[in-house]
Amino acid sequence: MKRYLIAGNWKMNAQLSANADLLAGIVPHLSATGAVDVAVCVPAPYLAQVQKICQGTCMNWGAQDVSAHESGAFTGEVSADMLSDFKSRYVLVGHSERRQHHLETSSIVAAKAQRALAKGITPIVCVGETLQEREAGQTEEVVKRQMAAVIQQVAHCVSELVVAYEPVWAIGTGRTASPEQAQTVHALLRAQLRAASANADRIRILYGGSMNPSNAASLLAQADIDGGLIGGASLKSHDFLAIVAAAQAL
Ligand code: PGA
Repeated sequence: MKRYLIAGNWKMNAQLSANADLLAGIVPHLSATGAVDVAVCVPAPYLAQVQKICQGTCMNWGAQDVSAHESGAFTGEVSADMLSDFKSRYVLVGHSERRQHHLETSSIVAAKAQRALAKGITPIVCVGETLQEREAGQTEEVVKRQMAAVIQQVAHCVSELVVAYEPVWAIGTGRTASPEQAQTVHALLRAQLRAASANADRIRILYGGSMNPSNAASLLAQADIDGGLIGGASLKSHDFLAIVAAAQAL
């Protein structure tokens, strides 16, 4: 039986009072999540606040990025050690917004995943093709190349990863991949992970890209979809809880 992971990605949407309100609308309702793990990935300045609110509850927390460097003269960067100070359980690496706006290459993403793992933080490795790449028939090649860079770097602990397939054209657009489109890519990724690790079946491969309460169940029911990475809908307590409930009901 799958153990789903539903992870919110708040992106750069947070303020002390809004965070407290949002979590107050979610956390107390999570006690009976059963076979579903739930997490929020928040902007680094709010880790202390979110840790304080969520510790001892069913809500896990994490960050949205981590430095590829260990420590030192890297102004503005946040290290894996710092994330660990706030007991971060997860960190997103290689989100398409980082790849696109901050020119993160797959080898930088791989280095970040390795830094996180070295500190016991689970990297949620995001991969996904742009619309142009999909239309050019390059989806498989692109996601496999992005995944391969990380597999190569963390060869000895591939099974510790969480992977998120996020087609760039579906992020924040309201345009979701169909369950079949998503499953096809998830199956490719699973096969790639299996070739790299004997324990690949325990790796959770999340889908992300306009997941919402009305499409969550059909996406999560797919054989190789083990959860969701939720952007917009993670900012609304009712929507986020509805997605968690959809996973619970499967
Ligand atoms: P979205 O974002 O749910 O708003 O499409 C998902 C993500 O970027 O992780």
